[in-house]
Amino acid sequence: MSPLGPLRLGVNIDHVATVRNARGGAVPDPLRAAKIAEEAGADGITAHLREDRRHIRDADIDALMDGLTVPLNFEMAATDEMHAIALRHKPHAVCLVPERREERTTEGGLDVARDDNRLARFIAPLREAGSRVSMFIAADEAQVRASQRIGAEVIELHTGAYCEAFAEGDTATADKELNAIREMAALAHDIGLEVHAGHGLTYDDVTPIAQIPQVMEVNIGHFIIGEAIFRGLGPAIQEMRRVLDAARAAG
Ligand code: PXP
Repeated sequence: MSPLGPLRLGVNIDHVATVRNARGGAVPDPLRAAKIAEEAGADGITAHLREDRRHIRDADIDALMDGLTVPLNFEMAATDEMHAIALRHKPHAVCLVPERREERTTEGGLDVARDDNRLARFIAPLREAGSRVSMFIAADEAQVRASQRIGAEVIELHTGAYCEAFAEGDTATADKELNAIREMAALAHDIGLEVHAGHGLTYDDVTPIAQIPQVMEVNIGHFIIGEAIFRGLGPAIQEMRRVLDAARAAG
């Protein structure tokens, strides 16, 4: 075990379904990808059932619930339809994300502070059903405190702005975003929340995130699935595991 303690890797398999859906039919199969991810060292599988079913579909969630041996982190919008699906499946974790039909991916964090009464009522039955409820939020104090207030157990800090600045070589913005993530991870931990992080992470930018001591889990999808084209899914995940372990040991 590293000095910082273990860091879990959740592999998001949404874009295996994106490729499948580009042609219709059944291949590539997201469950097959999830089983390879398990073997390659993923600690969990993440799948986002979007309202428009653009990638993961209902039948994929059925198959993942039946076929996985690692926990499923079920990402969803806070809608009545998704609430019913989550209560039927009772996944290990439910991560609430904002969703807009026109967006290409989950662009921002959830505005927990503005919708706290409704979200408190929304998550209570999910927790009673045994799911760990996580809020996907920006590194913003009002959002962290609101997540704790409404009874969430976990927050996932949105790393997208940090990753984008890093990719553009804008180190000043990347550092600013990283500092906000560090500060909010510390605050969240102090007030009793478990801290996860994700969105846009790659081999090149994940190390500073992995070295934040309060971060217990990272969720990574798009980059790993893309990298799998070149090295295969198992090796792409094993390399991410190696980078995370090295970061944790050095940090
Ligand atoms: N975490 C959450 C809450 C997400 O919505 C996503 C994207 O679906 C990810 C992590 C993974 O992001 P990426 O695919 O960019 O690695």
